[in-house]
Amino acid sequence: MMTTVTPSGLKIRPRRMDFSLSDPLPRHWHSGDPFKTHFFNSMSVLFPDGERYFIDSVRLFRDQITDPELLEQIRGFIGQEGHHSREHIEYNQRLRDLGYDIDKLEIPVRKRIRFVQKQFSAERQLAGTVAMEHFTAILADALLREPEWMAGATPEMQKLWRWHALEETEHKAVAFDVYMKVCGDRQILRRAMRQATFFFLKDVTQGMWHMLRRDGKLGDVKMMVRGMRWLWGRNGFFTRLVGVYRDYYRTDFHPWQHDNMALLETHSEEFSAALIR
Ligand SMILES: [Fe+2]
Ligand SMILES: [Fe+2]
Repeated sequence: MMTTVTPSGLKIRPRRMDFSLSDPLPRHWHSGDPFKTHFFNSMSVLFPDGERYFIDSVRLFRDQITDPELLEQIRGFIGQEGHHSREHIEYNQRLRDLGYDIDKLEIPVRKRIRFVQKQFSAERQLAGTVAMEHFTAILADALLREPEWMAGATPEMQKLWRWHALEETEHKAVAFDVYMKVCGDRQILRRAMRQATFFFLKDVTQGMWHMLRRDGKLGDVKMMVRGMRWLWGRNGFFTRLVGVYRDYYRTDFHPWQHDNMALLETHSEEFSAALIR
């Protein structure tokens, strides 16, 4: 039988990292490869506003939760996402300093979020978070499980993404568990995922396009083809996630059906000194 609940006793605690990233950031910090670098950079651009939205959407329902363990996990979730935002704001500032127009990328995302927060029901707002958290969870699992995706990146950037991936894994079911307690409509969840998928791919592609163009690399056919294969080829980063992505649409899906507790144990030691409480 499938696991359908979050492991009991799972501790979700924020860690204070303060990366103080290299200044300037190496322009192509991932293997000297513009494609790989800007793939991660364009996700970073989405985090500060996205994570604030995740926090807001969970807060909308916090009053309705009585389970003390879930309340504690919500606290941890909010703390972790808050710290991610902080570090990614600094990361994105380094990208601005390198000449990329981060405001141009952030503004439409911010406008869309404002629209959703005004026009959508609280349940649909939370469903959007549940969907995006599945994305971050499966990406995080891949980064922790298969360090080769980060091989060749600078050690500080490997560490930043490893820390973020660890915490995304820890709190991957918080928004889902809140949603199931306060609403539970699977159809809304699935619709939110279709929308989230469209916008996630669109935003990441636009971010990469902008940064690659600024670097004058769009015409580098060899590099572009190699990058597309790395992402979408037979054993590509995204290609290998299609199966776990689709699990979300199952009628009995729960994030902890992908049991990666062992990965948490392997990776949490590295960051234990940074735990806040
Ligand atoms: Fe995060
Ligand atoms: Fe998250």
